[in-house]
Amino acid sequence: MDQLNQVLGLAISEIADINSLHDLEQLKARYVGKQGAITAFMQKLKDIAPEERKAFGAEVNKIKTSFEEVLNNKKDELVAKELAAKLANETIDVSLDGRGIERGSLHPVSLTLDRLVKLFAQLGFAVADGPEIETDYYNFKALNIPDNHPARAMQDTFYTESGNVLRTHTSPIQIRYAEKRTPPIKIIAPGRVFRVDMDATHSPMFHQMELLWIDKGISFANLKAVIIEFMRKFFEDDSLQVRFRASFFPFTEPSAEIDIYFAKTGKWLEVGGCGMVHPNVLNYMNISSEEYSGFAFGFGIDRLAMLKYEITDLRLMFENDLDFLRQFKGC
Ligand code: PHE
Repeated sequence: MDQLNQVLGLAISEIADINSLHDLEQLKARYVGKQGAITAFMQKLKDIAPEERKAFGAEVNKIKTSFEEVLNNKKDELVAKELAAKLANETIDVSLDGRGIERGSLHPVSLTLDRLVKLFAQLGFAVADGPEIETDYYNFKALNIPDNHPARAMQDTFYTESGNVLRTHTSPIQIRYAEKRTPPIKIIAPGRVFRVDMDATHSPMFHQMELLWIDKGISFANLKAVIIEFMRKFFEDDSLQVRFRASFFPFTEPSAEIDIYFAKTGKWLEVGGCGMVHPNVLNYMNISSEEYSGFAFGFGIDRLAMLKYEITDLRLMFENDLDFLRQFKGC
């Protein structure tokens, strides 16, 4: 009995010194595990004289119960302590400054488009648009490009299964807008266009802007004046040289290609096509070519953005690389 009380005394003093649940589990095993010090007394029971056995057994149980009570109290204490420590550790200081959200920037194509719309608004042009999936009629036929016309092959068209096309230029918007209206018609029409083409200077999707001005007495002089004025405003260079080279488009007659002189490189660069609206096209627009005349102008918005921001590879425009895009902050 004395030994039993000694074991309990020792256990209680050891428990008092313990600081972790893990150590407490190990201690428990040393006392009441299979080979435990208190368990050992239970096993002695069978060697004890039968008349003393009952009293001894009761005593061992009492000791064991006391041990477990002390142990469980300690356990509760340790669990509470660990929880308190954990809570203290994981506390969030809501008064700390945030990490901040980076301010985004506009894509160079959007920046350019915004400038274009503003510039042409100053010259009195409204903005029109049309569908990206076009019918053969608007993309070709009403633009004086009949079936089997070689210009169709020139355009590397994407066809849909239902026989429509992804518009290859913004010119169909001319027809859609003008067929329902009477002149004066004075619009720009920006949008995405599609051609089967892909390299450093071509993308299967790119942006164009169309310009159409129809009224009484519109001449090639008006065409030149508007385009030269626009190019000089866009490039912020009042003496920018603009050159008109005779060319061919089925929907304009006469037609020209427009080059600008880039002083930085000493080179002429082609930036778009233009011409007087073909009488056949005016017919498709339900506009009398006797009474009215007009000019149209089409150019690549991405091309202008690249020149303006000195971007050398068109593909950069459509890869959404953040390091590239961040450079346009504040533009
Ligand atoms: N649609 C022509 C093209 O995509 C450009 C153009 C527009 C030419 C208007 C003349 C007049 O190449």
